[in-house]
Formats: sequence, C-alpha cells, structure tokens
Amino acid sequence: MIIAIDGPSGAGKSTLGKMLAKKLRLLYLDTGAMYRAVALAVTKAGLGFEAKEKVADIAEKAKIDLIGEPDALKIFLDGDEVTSEIRTLQIAQAASVVSTNSEVRKVMVRHQREIGNAAPNGCVLEGRDIGSVVFPDADIKFFLTAKPEARARRRYEEDKTRGRVSTYEQTLAEINERDQRDVSRADSPLTIAEDAVVIDTSELDLTEVFEAMLAKISEQRASAA
Ligand code: DC
Repeated sequence: MIIAIDGPSGAGKSTLGKMLAKKLRLLYLDTGAMYRAVALAVTKAGLGFEAKEKVADIAEKAKIDLIGEPDALKIFLDGDEVTSEIRTLQIAQAASVVSTNSEVRKVMVRHQREIGNAAPNGCVLEGRDIGSVVFPDADIKFFLTAKPEARARRRYEEDKTRGRVSTYEQTLAEINERDQRDVSRADSPLTIAEDAVVIDTSELDLTEVFEAMLAKISEQRASAA
C-alpha cells in the first residue's frame, strides 16, 4: 500500500505520516529530508544554487539514507549523520531553492520510487509532489493544509522547544516565502492532486486528523477488497 501525503510546510504532514506508518506498519519516507540533504551537500561543497548542472551532479552522487523507526528516523549524507543539521532555517530555504532544479527532482523522484516500491508492506511518503508526480497511482492521497497563521504558530512553538531563537512574525514570513516558491516553481509545484482527500488542520487537533485519515484508509481498503 502506498499512502501519499502532500501539503505546505507546517500542516502536520510529518507528525501524521509517522503516526500512520507506525500504526499500519509501513515504511515512512520523508522526501523533504532528501531535498534538505542535497541542499546541505551543495552548501558543504561551497557551490551556489545557480550552478544548476553542478548542483544536479551533487544530487546524483550524494548517498542519502533514511534509517530507523518513523519517530527516531536518522538521516545520513555520504555516511555522516545530518539529522539535526538539515533542520535549520537556512537549510529549509536552501532546500526550497534546490527543489526548483528539474534535474535534482528527477534524481529524487527516481530514488523515492525505488524506496517506496521496495518496501515489503508499503510506504507512507510525505512531500509536495507525491500524489501528483512520484506515485500518481498511490492507493490513497492526502493533502493536508492549514492557514499560514496556524502553521507558523505550530512551527514557532516547535522551534522554541528545540531552543531555536525566532519570533512568530519571522516564522510566518519564512513560511510565506517558502510556500510562494513551492507553489510557483515551474517543475512539479505544490498542487492538490485531483483525487486527494483534502484536510484543513487549522482548527483540528492531531488525534482528530489522525482518526479522519485512518477512517479514509479503511474506506479505501474496503472498497478495494
Ligand atoms: O517538507 P520540508 O519542509 O522538509 O521540505 C523542504 C523543501 O523541499 C520544501 O520547501 C520543498 C521541497 N520539497 C519538494 O519540492 N518536494 C518534496 N516532495 C518534498 C520537499
């Protein structure tokens, strides 16, 4: 079973994706972490993101591994653990820029399909283009969204618990900037797949969204049986 979860940053994709993967015993694939790892590799190589071919070459050669259980997932780049290094604001923005590179996207999509198809019980993939490009035939597609203010509030609270210094206003501005780039890029922009189940999480708590998603999955399984 392939479950696609797309949506803008801060809508709850990661938390809910991990919860679903655990509950249904599926592999969990955070595709944003892969773009972040490429952005880090480019930064480490001292390259500018406008050097498109060189950036694509780095993406092709980078060895990106996601290892461990969903809620203890570790990200490795060329054998080094980079789990927390890829979570900075600078890398978030850099990942959003690197993800506009079509050659990089080709490499990532190929890699994501291989991982998803090889998962023995199936896979929950979360990102921006999973239902539209990576797995257009996914068994079920979710599009999680929320008002920018709600997403910024959550991100800001999350950052505070991680000891990251920022203000709510800064977080909101960053989210808006990243959203704008992710929806307006030419290649595979963030869009709602035609057959996606859209859930606005602004006014819902985690358990409510989780239950709604599980109910949809059961419905889908019953109709496919
Ligand atoms: O989900 P995230 O914040 O970790 O993603 C970082 C960036 O990567 C995001 O701004 C857009 C890009 N991305 C993408 O283009 N396609 C995906 N499937 C996942 C992420």
